[in-house]
Amino acid sequence: MYLEHLSLTDFRSYAQVDLPLEPGVTVLVGANGIGKTNLMEAIGYLATLSSHRVSSDAPLLRFGTDRALVRARLVRGGQTTVLELEINASRANRGRINRSNPVRARDLLGICQTVLFAPRTWRSSREIRPTAAGSSTSCWSA
Ligand SMILES: Nc1ncnc2c1ncn2[C@@H]1O[C@H](COP(=O)(O)OP(=O)(O)OP(=O)(O)O)[C@@H](O)[C@H]1O
Ligand SMILES: [Mg+2]
Repeated sequence: MYLEHLSLTDFRSYAQVDLPLEPGVTVLVGANGIGKTNLMEAIGYLATLSSHRVSSDAPLLRFGTDRALVRARLVRGGQTTVLELEINASRANRGRINRSNPVRARDLLGICQTVLFAPRTWRSSREIRPTAAGSSTSCWSA
């Protein structure tokens, strides 16, 4: 499976962005704070309905807005699926699959399959366990 197109409306720093993608590796390059992780977070949210950075939806909505949209076109074995997820401040999130009538957001789970690796800050020293070699291990989320 690969993501052929990602479109965001009022998600984090993006009022609107359309990102065509291709199979293979994509490297996002840009200045600090430009919005690279926001794009990863949107894809991760579409896949899992949760963010790797925050535990509630509110921070995902662009400041001053009450609804964000994440749309993605996925290709699997030559078959295309369009997923749309509406993240709402004051009512339940909703999804659409191939421009269907709205469905529960959780009906989208399992369609966009991702693995996310993201660096996390060091935890308290008590949580840093020595390895067998005696050095410390860092903590990575997946
Ligand atoms: N809810 C929001 N509404 C508007 N802007 C937001 C929101 N949440 C975060 N931002 C903005 O998104 C930007 C950070 O984006 P992001 O974390 O994707 O940057 P980045 O390119 O990954 O940076 P770095 O290279 O430092 O990791 C900041 O400018 C921040 O103000
Ligand atoms: Mg980042």
